[in-house]
Amino acid sequence: MSSEMSEKLISGLKIPTADDAFEWSPPLRALPVPGIRRMVNLAATMENVIHLSIGQPDFPCPKHIVDAYIHALQKGETGYTMDAGLPELLKELASYYSKRTGREITEDNILVTTGATEAMYLSISVTAAPSRQFLIPDPCFPLYAPLVRMHGGEVKAIPTRAESGHQLDPQEVIDAIGPRTFAIILNSPSNPTGTVYPQETIEAIVQEAAYQGVKVISDEVYDHLLLDDLDYASVLGHTSDLDHVMIASSFSKTFSMAGLRIGWVISSQGTIKMLRRYHMFTTTVANTPSQWAGVAALRGGSQCIDEMVKEYRHRRDRIVQLVSESPHLTGYWPQGSFFIFPSLPLHTNASHVALRMLEEIGVCVVPGEAFGESCTNSLRISYSTSIEKIEEAFSRMIPWLAKQDL
Ligand SMILES: Cc1ncc(COP(=O)(O)O)c(C=O)c1O
Repeated sequence: MSSEMSEKLISGLKIPTADDAFEWSPPLRALPVPGIRRMVNLAATMENVIHLSIGQPDFPCPKHIVDAYIHALQKGETGYTMDAGLPELLKELASYYSKRTGREITEDNILVTTGATEAMYLSISVTAAPSRQFLIPDPCFPLYAPLVRMHGGEVKAIPTRAESGHQLDPQEVIDAIGPRTFAIILNSPSNPTGTVYPQETIEAIVQEAAYQGVKVISDEVYDHLLLDDLDYASVLGHTSDLDHVMIASSFSKTFSMAGLRIGWVISSQGTIKMLRRYHMFTTTVANTPSQWAGVAALRGGSQCIDEMVKEYRHRRDRIVQLVSESPHLTGYWPQGSFFIFPSLPLHTNASHVALRMLEEIGVCVVPGEAFGESCTNSLRISYSTSIEKIEEAFSRMIPWLAKQDL
C-alpha cells in the first residue's frame, strides 16, 4: 500500500474502488433493481423469444400526431416552453378534462410533465416524508412504493388477489387508514393487473379520504384503455374540490406515444404552484415538439383510440381463454390496460417459473415480485403484442406448464 493510501485510511477516508466510485446516497439505495428490466435484459441475450412482457402499446403512433411533431420541429419549435407547459396544450387539456368530467378544469389546474412518470415522481416527492404513511394496493406499478421510501415515507400495502379479479375492497382501504396515513395511491386501470375499479370503489375511497383529511394520488394513464362498456371512474369525478387530490396521466398509452414523453398532473391551483417549483428543479419543461404532438392528439378525435381498444379487446378475450386453459394458472376478467396477472398455486416461486419458462421455452413474462410483496406466486402477462405471437406463446406454455409439478 502506498503511503498516500495509508494516510487516507488512517484519516478515516474510505478509498473508492472501481465498483464504488461514489458514496451513493440513501435515496438511491432505496431504489430496487427493476424486476422487469432483469427479465428483458436476459431475454435480449437469447434467440426466438416471444415477449409477453411489453409495457407499452405495440401500435404505431397515429400519423396526424407524428406529422404535428415533425411540423413543430420544422417551424423551429425547439426552445423551452413555459414551465407549466405549452399554453396551447394547457388550453386543450383544460377543455378536454372539463368536457370529460363535467367540472371546470382551468389551465391553472394543470402542469405538463415528462410523462406520467414525472407526474407521479413530483406528486410523491412533494408529499412523502418521514412519519407519513402511503396506502398502496399490492401488486402495483413499481414506481410508487420506492419513491415513497426514497423520501423517508412509509408504505402500507393493501393486497389484492386474482380470485377476486384484483379488485380493491374500499372498506379494506378505509379500515387501513390510521393516524399516520397521509395519502392513498390508486391506479385504475391497473398495471400489472388490468383491473378497473368501479365508480362505487373510487367514490367510497375518495369521499372517506376527504372526510379524514387524507390525500388521494391517482395514476390514470390507462383511462382510455377500457375494454368493456364502462364509464371511466376518475378520481376527478368524485371529489368536491381539488385540494386533496392529484391526478397523473399522459399520452403514452392512449395515443401510443410513450417515447414522446408527455404527461401531466391535475390538482388545485395551489398544489400546481408547488409542483411547478419542483418541476423547475427536475426537468424544467417537457419536450416542446412533443407538446405540439399532444395538441394534435387532443384535436384529432378518438377514432385512432377506438381502433386500438377494439384490437386490445379481441386479444384480451383470447388471452383470458388461453389462461383458463393453462394448467396451474388462475385467471380472471381484466377490463382495462393490456395486462393480466394470473396466479400460480400459493407459495409457488413465480420468479423461478418465469426464469425457467424463458430459458426452456423462450417465453418472457414478468414475475409478480416486480410489483409487490403479496404476489410472488403471480405472473404479469402483457397482450401488447400480436394475436399470432400470443397464440404461439401459449402453444409453448400450455404443454410446458402441464409438465410442472407445482
Ligand atoms: C401505471 C403506469 N403509470 C405510469 C407509467 C409511465 O407512463 P409515462 O410513459 O407517461 O411516463 C406507466 C408505464 O408503463 C404505467 O404503466
